Amino acid sequence: MQDKFKLLEDKIAQAQLGGGEARIEAQHKKGKLTARERIHFLLDEGSFEEIGMFVTHRSTNFGLDKQKILGDGVVTGYGTINGRLVYVFAQDFTVMGGSLAEAHAEKICRIMDLAMKNGAPVIGLNDSGGARIQEGVVSLGGYADIFYRNTLASGVIPQLSAIMGPCAGGAVYSPALTDFIMMVENTSYMFVTGPNVVKTVTHEEVSSEDLGGASTHATKSGVTHFTYANEIECLNGIKTLLSYIPQNCEEEPPSVPYESNGDELRPGLNNIVPENPNQPYDIKEVIELTVDEGSFYEVHKDFAENIVVGFARLAGKTIGVVANQPAFLAGVLDIKSSQKGARFVRFCDAFNIPLLVFEDVPGFLPGTDQEWNAIITNGAKLLYAFSEATVPRVTVITRKAYGGAYDVMNSKHIGADMNFAWPSAEIAVMGAKGAAEIIFRKEIQSADNPEEKWKEKEQEYAELFANPYNAAARGYVDEVIKPEQTREKLIKVFKMLENKVDKLPKKKHGNIPL
Ligand code: HXC
Repeated sequence: MQDKFKLLEDKIAQAQLGGGEARIEAQHKKGKLTARERIHFLLDEGSFEEIGMFVTHRSTNFGLDKQKILGDGVVTGYGTINGRLVYVFAQDFTVMGGSLAEAHAEKICRIMDLAMKNGAPVIGLNDSGGARIQEGVVSLGGYADIFYRNTLASGVIPQLSAIMGPCAGGAVYSPALTDFIMMVENTSYMFVTGPNVVKTVTHEEVSSEDLGGASTHATKSGVTHFTYANEIECLNGIKTLLSYIPQNCEEEPPSVPYESNGDELRPGLNNIVPENPNQPYDIKEVIELTVDEGSFYEVHKDFAENIVVGFARLAGKTIGVVANQPAFLAGVLDIKSSQKGARFVRFCDAFNIPLLVFEDVPGFLPGTDQEWNAIITNGAKLLYAFSEATVPRVTVITRKAYGGAYDVMNSKHIGADMNFAWPSAEIAVMGAKGAAEIIFRKEIQSADNPEEKWKEKEQEYAELFANPYNAAARGYVDEVIKPEQTREKLIKVFKMLENKVDKLPKKKHGNIPL
């Protein structure tokens, strides 16, 4: 019997070495951890249970029959993070570059199936050269099996993808189908085709970093939601993110104990909006002062900064925050900010996370660039996402709520449950200057002093609309509040809405303007 135990022990030791000492050393030299080290730092100590350690590929092509490595380049299993169950796969770059083929894909599918049946998140630690070239079409089939499961799992269980190395080809599409992507600066890349192929096809010369590095995807494409300076920070980021979200779509998000000291007034909020409506201010100050101290966790921080989205806690409970940012492009809605907002709203709605909206938006960004790239379709995404959301939804209009953007930013008309406005709110079809020019054009042109007349008419329009009271008279705004009252009011209103039940009409699925 001892021989048999010894054989098992040897096999385990062999599997744990992956592609061997030399390749592990090369991985470390690049500032990267191995698949097993990543799992070790991610999960609660001693909680990881591995599944499929002895799986190998079945291919005999190109000498692969002599290169069977136990585990086939991916470590899969389950464990806990802060005591909560998660399923995890970590691709092992030391085994044929973490490339994915039949057996490797089967292992990932196995834990995805378990995660779906048991209602817990799947975390993918991706580090892969894409489809294993030697195995041909079974590699493609393996990818498609995963993509299919990613899609079916979407909205059922949270799916998180950390990119921790060069991810090429098929290796980028599974992450793209998941809820959140996180990348590590300088060591992770995502591209459909790498710089060499790009050079051959388009004659462009571009580095891996510029083509698909963390900063490119954080700022230009918006493909990644988070970037981190190193792998440990990235793994900690996953833990933080999970602390806000439920295990599956049937559960409520987790909450932390909250003891109120009875004083929820935040006088600091009274001094943030400047007297001059054309002056910017930082909406993040408003968010930070309103939510539980230090609880705001921003998503997509460096992309489309004219809208701010992220998770926070209010009286210990998770909320999703969506806020126009007057400090960046005056908080205007454009293509990218609409996409960013819409995706976040849909995640929150899918996972029972109430939505808080801070609104200060001068309208949609005009111009050929926006029109030719379909601001109409993309702006409609945000409109659709809010309209369809059935979670508790509350809006606070801090200043401008102009034009279609008033409707889009979680107005009562599209299903918001409660709409507050600060006394500084301006709610109208458009800004007073432009409005006066259009509706009083003839009067202005025929006046002895057109400039003077324009100012007079602008003033007239501003007096009528640059305030929250017209909207409040209609009940579009439920209450005009002093900024300092905001936190107190929100705690009460989200408590009041805690048991909200709202159902969409029966349908197979809607047709969001993609
Ligand atoms: C098999 C692969 C591999 C692959 C890398 N390796 N990619 N083996 N299939 N796709 C192996 C290498 O042969 C090498 O083996 C080891 O992994 C490390 O690779 P290196 O090239 O030495 O590492 P590095 O210089 O860091 O470059 C990493 C890389 C590069 C950028 C990922 O290897 C690369 O460009 N790979 C190919 C990417 C690609 O085109 N994939 C197919 C995409 S098509 P040894 O034995 O030397 O250690 C695709 C289709 C799916 O994915 C589409 C679905 C929608």
